[in-house]
Amino acid sequence: MPAPELSDPSLKKQLSFFCGEWRAAASGDSFPVFNPASGSQIAAVPSLSAPEVNEAVEFAADAMRAWSEVPAPRRAALLRAWFEEINRHSADLALLLTLEQGKPLAEALGEIAYGASYIEWFSEEAKRLYGEMIPAPSNDRRILVIRQPVGVCAAITPWNFPNAMITRKVAPALAAGCSIVVKPASQTPLSALALAELASRAGLPPGVLSVVTGEASTVGTALLRHPLVRKVTFTGSTETGKKILEECAKSVKKVTMELGGNAPFLVFSDADLDAAVEGLMASKFRNSGQTCVCANRVFVEECVLEPFLAKLLPAVKNLCIGNGWENGTTQGPLIDDSALRKVESLVENAKSLGASVLLGGKRASNENQFFLPTVLTNCHHDMALAKEEIFGPVAAIFSFHSEEEAIRAANASPVGLAAYFYSRDIGKIWRVAEALEVGMVGVNTGTISNAMAPFGGIKESGFGREGSKYGIEDYTNLKYICMAGISS
Ligand code: SIN
Repeated sequence: MPAPELSDPSLKKQLSFFCGEWRAAASGDSFPVFNPASGSQIAAVPSLSAPEVNEAVEFAADAMRAWSEVPAPRRAALLRAWFEEINRHSADLALLLTLEQGKPLAEALGEIAYGASYIEWFSEEAKRLYGEMIPAPSNDRRILVIRQPVGVCAAITPWNFPNAMITRKVAPALAAGCSIVVKPASQTPLSALALAELASRAGLPPGVLSVVTGEASTVGTALLRHPLVRKVTFTGSTETGKKILEECAKSVKKVTMELGGNAPFLVFSDADLDAAVEGLMASKFRNSGQTCVCANRVFVEECVLEPFLAKLLPAVKNLCIGNGWENGTTQGPLIDDSALRKVESLVENAKSLGASVLLGGKRASNENQFFLPTVLTNCHHDMALAKEEIFGPVAAIFSFHSEEEAIRAANASPVGLAAYFYSRDIGKIWRVAEALEVGMVGVNTGTISNAMAPFGGIKESGFGREGSKYGIEDYTNLKYICMAGISS
């Protein structure tokens, strides 16, 4: 079945957006964008050079001077107008997202609403960027603290959520009075460019939001090296995050790092097993397992392993792989061949170390990028999939015998983004939630992401929080003002 057409084809931009205009690369260079479900090319976008990125940053710095002086209620109203434009075009945005990323249309629509919710949230937070008065050490002084925009921000965003990972960064930056230059993942630039088009239609001033496309080694590096970029926000792997941190250290930029996870998902014997299966399906198979908060290691208390599997297997068998725009599809392809090879090699490694394949365990065919929804049992800590993010539709099941053993196993990772567990024992719920070494815990739920909550990790999963009342803080500098000579 051929892919449907956009109802507003002008949302499919094949130019970069900077210096207040849509531009091709001066060199004429471009790179292709593929539909991962079919492998066919759907667009080509500019491969910008470092001088072009520098120009974008310098224009953004000029734009920021005026933007930071726009009163907060006006900034809020413009963000709200952008939110409304996105809602008006959600069907087209979802289709574009499905075409370049592969996730099923229903999930893509969910992502558009999720992404827009950050704009709505931060349009409201723009009006609440409060300062503080602090009791002074003497009567002739007053101490006050104000928040000021940090400066031009650069956002380097991933392909797994081509819309929401942009709005989650751009909205707080703009709310705080910063300008921001986004470098979207090369696999999924079209969603970013459509967002920029709608921001411009909503009336956001030129240069406040730019989208620069091209090679990470050119565009990303130019952003990281530019002295006018004062803050870098990144979502992606821990490996790349460490390189970005090194580069940012050279000019001491402020950074937010949303890096890799290895989420444990614990099912205790007192859990509601139906709810646990439902939560695992949501956490594990969302976006075909390609999220950094996906359940990566599923620990089930030995005495309920059999009944748990009896409920899980039919649910996984029910998943349906296919083109994201076709009715009934619940699982899209993996993003590219290297993602597919990685999942394949993790499964092969687990098999060679004793894992049993209860479902799937291989590619759907050699002609495409689909991996079959998979359930592996008898998993243990020596397997590569216990240490690395699987980033694919593979439920790796481990077993445990006690609460202490479960917590020790769950924490046996250098990263700490999300964790989930199911129990109905209130004492255990508090003990386990507090003991897990992560930034986010889902108790009796597999879905934890929303605009009101602080998203972020600890350990090698990074630092900084996105969303919530905390999410705007990283886009501001605190300034302390000491006023003396008040009483003579
Ligand atoms: C991610 O995978 O990077 C983000 C997932 C989410 O926001 O839920």
